[in-house]
Amino acid sequence: MSDSLTEFHVSPGGALCGRIRVPGDKSISHRSIMLGSLADGVTRVSGFLQGEDSLATLGAFRAMGVEIEGPHDGRVVIHGVGRKGLKAPAQPLDLGNSGTSMRLLAGLLAGQGLDLVLTGDASLSGRPMRRVTAPLAQMGARVEATDAGTAPLHIRPVEALHGIDFALPVASAQVKSCVLLAGLYADGETCVTEPAPTRDHTERMLQGFGYEVRREGNRICLRGGGRLRACDIDVPADISSAAFFLVGASIAPGSDLLLEHVGMNPTRDGVINILRLMGADIEVSNERSMGGEPVADLRVRHAALHGIHIPEDQVPLAIDEFPALFVAAACAEGETVLTGAEELRVKESDRIQAMADGLQALGVDARPTPDGMTIQGGALRGGEVDSHGDHRIAMSFAMAALRADGDIRIRDCANVNTSFPDFGRLAGEAGLHIVTENG
Ligand code: S3P
Repeated sequence: MSDSLTEFHVSPGGALCGRIRVPGDKSISHRSIMLGSLADGVTRVSGFLQGEDSLATLGAFRAMGVEIEGPHDGRVVIHGVGRKGLKAPAQPLDLGNSGTSMRLLAGLLAGQGLDLVLTGDASLSGRPMRRVTAPLAQMGARVEATDAGTAPLHIRPVEALHGIDFALPVASAQVKSCVLLAGLYADGETCVTEPAPTRDHTERMLQGFGYEVRREGNRICLRGGGRLRACDIDVPADISSAAFFLVGASIAPGSDLLLEHVGMNPTRDGVINILRLMGADIEVSNERSMGGEPVADLRVRHAALHGIHIPEDQVPLAIDEFPALFVAAACAEGETVLTGAEELRVKESDRIQAMADGLQALGVDARPTPDGMTIQGGALRGGEVDSHGDHRIAMSFAMAALRADGDIRIRDCANVNTSFPDFGRLAGEAGLHIVTENG
């Protein structure tokens, strides 16, 4: 829920120390509910993210007749209804701020023979949906957006879907997953080719549910009509939530922080690669595999960062971490240049503009470009910034206070609850001087 009255007030200075576990991975939490609901049998999930986005997915499946117990302390029990067991909900499914819920559900529901509507909040209702309605139409689906190509999405029943061979025009895991999930209900084979590697949790989890997925280079294929077998899922801590602490501890002198049980999927680890290129001191230990996903503990200590030109091949692997990385760049010696990241303009907010505006308000020389930003590292002063209701902008500016010379006040922070409900408490325990004010 966007509530412009919720603010973070963060006093300058401090260091991040100790040992913390950030909440469960948002992408994996969404998918656990989706696949668990369609499976035969009972799926038990632990480490589930109890944030508003993944709870929106959970609520949607409950509204479609799936019995789901929890979440209690991250534990969820899903009584799968099988591939054709969903029922049309009595009302439109409200997916709040969650782009992943809307785009993946559009595909998953396109071939179910149900008539239903997907809605979202003001931010989600402004985000591009043609990227999913276009390939779904090619498959024979009727998923209608507004004339502007935005939500609400009206899904109408069709006789059948047919498999397609689809080349993604943008490197998007949401679009890839949408098409693959529709492909579960399509005749024949559905294939998606990606222009660059994007997060592959859907493919990994389908295989965990016993569904055959074939990958040949950058092309992923599956055949429709198969069944999913329930399984247990242990959701690792979200590397995208860990990212704020990786940046915070890197920029704050005296920091020494251990982040436990972090998901280290190679399609998600761009933030570590980029920070290391900037000179960060991040140690990876206790590497293990949990239910098909790599996991590790990360120790991060303060280090002197320097500016870099961020390699474009890292962009899809760190796509959610650029707000935090821009703060790292502002604290680095010299210039940091990001290019090839126009997707940042259509996230929960226009993250290029929102971050440039906020950094400039703190005295940083940050110049936005159509597909990225150029930032000169230097001193940060205190000031007021607007998160535009974007959780990741809010948390990134909170970390900036570690190096500012005055208080930072961040407006419109309620949506931090979409991905990281306990951020204020956890960040405070680690050493950030943060107070949350509600109206
Ligand atoms: C996600 C994919 C990414 C990411 C989002 C979660 C997913 O979006 O930004 O936060 O779970 O598939 P795009 O596919 O639009 O890049």
